[in-house]
Amino acid sequence: MTKPHRLPLLLGQALLASLLLMFFLAPAALAQQEREYEDLALTGDGACTRCHDELEYVPVLSIAKTAHGTVADGRTPTCTSCHGASTAHIDNPEGTSVRPPVDRLFGLASDTPVHEQNSACLDCHQGGERIHWQGSAHDSNEVACASCHELHTQDDKVRDRQEQAEVCFACHQEQRMEVTRFSRHPIPEGKVICSDCHNAHGTAGPKLLTRDSVTDTCYQCHAEKRGPFIWNHQPVNEDCSNCHNPHGTNVAGMLKWRTPFLCQQCHEPSTHQTNIPDLDDTRFAAARARSCLNCHTNIHGGNSPTESSRARAFFR
Ligand code: HEC
Ligand code: HEC
Ligand code: HEC
Ligand code: HEC
Ligand code: HEC
Ligand code: HEC
Ligand code: HEC
Ligand code: HEC
Ligand code: HEC
Ligand code: HEC
Repeated sequence: MTKPHRLPLLLGQALLASLLLMFFLAPAALAQQEREYEDLALTGDGACTRCHDELEYVPVLSIAKTAHGTVADGRTPTCTSCHGASTAHIDNPEGTSVRPPVDRLFGLASDTPVHEQNSACLDCHQGGERIHWQGSAHDSNEVACASCHELHTQDDKVRDRQEQAEVCFACHQEQRMEVTRFSRHPIPEGKVICSDCHNAHGTAGPKLLTRDSVTDTCYQCHAEKRGPFIWNHQPVNEDCSNCHNPHGTNVAGMLKWRTPFLCQQCHEPSTHQTNIPDLDDTRFAAARARSCLNCHTNIHGGNSPTESSRARAFFR
């Protein structure tokens, strides 16, 4: 009864065996073929570096000196992790004088859609600092990872404190102008840099700020402005940029306007008409540079323990 079944069984076994043979031998043969081309920089890059070597007009092999060149690290990419398998480019089946392009080309001249370029990077760099990349201002405005990062060089300018701002200014002309103003953070000196306040990859807070609010971002370095104060000035607790432009302004203290005009954005010019009869706003504005600040010295919040109207008004 079993006999008629034996033949198909044997056939099946043979088929399985040959399948197994193909599974194990074929890649081995392929690997052998690839090994004909010696890797020059990254594991498995022989497929590309047999043609793109150190004679290239763009420095290609220098990627070996970057964090992407740690051959001992199993997570390290090879040329094809970023540029794609690019078989048409390698084989050039039509034998055209100019090869079909690689699957993914980066940089300014690239025809590869930005989301396709970026997904190659995000395959390995999802999460962490980039947890809020999806839907961020840069993602939704089609800014490519490679618009900021240069990968074939050790000198990735956007991660260099001295050179970072220039990379950002290529697109952010307004901030380029603001940081040259009279009163500014020492950004051109590289002492404070864009990424101290912004995470270009996206954040939970507004305007790509590293913290959840403007004030929390500023407290990182100006902790004394956090208080606690007995007498709080509401706009200070709300948003430092009510009065300051953090990139730079032409008024001392990075203020958006001079006093008294700064204060008068929110306070009626007539504030003192009933309380201090001899106070003349024009005289203060013209004759005394500090104007309102002559008396309201602790503008970020007062700690005077007395229960007076002066204490409430941020007198020392
Ligand atoms: C058989 C040789 C050969 C192989 C293999 C090869 N390339 Fe190319 N590649 C070229 C040539 C030649 C050019 C210049 C364009 C042309 O004339 O076809 C080029 C151009 C390029 C360019 C575009 C440069 C530019 O100026 O626009 C990139 C990027 C590139 N190759 C990457 C790769 C990658 C990645 C691999 C491996 C997957 C690879 N190449 C494999 C020969 C090769
Ligand atoms: C196959 C995985 C892989 C791909 C694809 C990949 N990376 Fe990386 N990348 C790594 C590893 C691994 C490191 C080193 C360890 C680390 O910093 O996490 C790294 C490090 C980096 C660093 C930090 C360098 C340093 O010196 O600390 C930057 C920036 C970077 N990658 C950007 C990119 C960009 C942009 C792309 C796309 C064009 C990309 N990576 C594609 C795996 C990858
Ligand atoms: C608008 C400019 C900009 C864009 C676009 C950008 N980056 Fe960055 N990237 C930076 C800056 C600035 C730093 C350095 C941050 C720091 O020093 O705190 C950085 C650092 C990194 C690092 C190393 C430190 C870390 O966070 O692990 C990796 C990896 C990285 N970026 C990957 C990417 C990937 C992937 C993309 C695209 C999805 C991308 N970047 C898009 C500006 C950018
Ligand atoms: C981590 C991703 C990544 C890896 C790995 C990588 N590249 Fe690139 N490649 C890029 C990016 C991004 C650019 C755009 C210029 C730049 O950022 O330096 C580029 C540019 C190039 C260019 C110049 C193209 C042009 O238009 O100017 C060539 C050629 C090239 N790569 C070949 C290679 C070869 C060969 C390898 C393997 C040894 C390789 N790449 C590995 C991301 C990568
Ligand atoms: C390739 C162009 C490009 C580069 C380079 C670039 N950005 Fe942007 N950035 C944009 C675009 C486009 C927007 C969205 C439109 C706008 O607000 O101007 C944007 C928006 C922003 C915003 C406002 C976010 C919001 O929610 O309104 C900040 C902050 C910012 N970028 C910071 C940076 C920093 C910091 C760098 C450098 C590390 C940088 N950008 C580099 C193109 C760029
Ligand atoms: C000291 C912190 C700080 C630094 C350093 C800083 N920024 Fe900002 N940036 C802010 C704050 C806070 C805002 C939001 C409030 C505002 O618009 O004034 C902002 C807003 C922005 C915006 C959005 C402007 C708008 O009108 O929507 C851009 C673009 C920007 N910054 C780019 C940059 C660039 C580029 C650098 C580096 C040259 C930089 N920033 C350095 C704190 C900073
Ligand atoms: C990474 C640290 C850092 C962060 C974050 C930071 N600052 Fe500053 N801030 C500085 C440094 C450094 C100076 C210059 C101090 C000096 O020159 O003595 C400064 C100076 C100032 C000044 C005085 C300028 C003058 O001309 O006297 C103001 C105002 C100021 N910061 C406001 C802010 C605001 C608002 C924020 C948040 C948007 C902020 N800072 C975030 C480091 C920081
Ligand atoms: C209501 C307007 C206003 C708001 C809001 C405000 N400031 Fe100021 N800030 C000023 C004025 C006015 C000066 C100049 C004080 C002087 O010359 O005595 C100043 C000066 C500064 C200075 C430099 C001198 C000093 O006192 O250290 C820093 C730093 C500063 N502010 C940080 C901040 C931070 C951080 C925030 C948000 C938490 C903030 N400011 C919110 C009005 C404001
Ligand atoms: C962005 C709006 C804004 C700006 C700019 C502003 N303030 Fe205020 N200020 C407020 C608000 C809101 C309150 C709380 C209102 C209240 O309690 O009636 C307040 C409260 C005060 C108080 C205490 C009022 C009381 O009830 O005793 C004084 C004093 C004061 N501000 C002075 C100033 C001076 C001086 C300036 C300029 C350096 C200034 N403010 C700039 C919004 C502002
Ligand atoms: C000569 C000192 C002096 C100057 C200069 C001064 N103030 Fe006052 N301000 C006071 C005193 C004192 C009080 C408390 C008055 C009281 O007894 O209620 C006060 C109170 C206030 C209050 C609380 C509400 C009110 O009307 O009582 C505000 C708001 C205010 N000042 C804003 C300003 C502004 C804006 C300027 C600049 C145009 C300014 N002050 C300049 C002394 C001054």
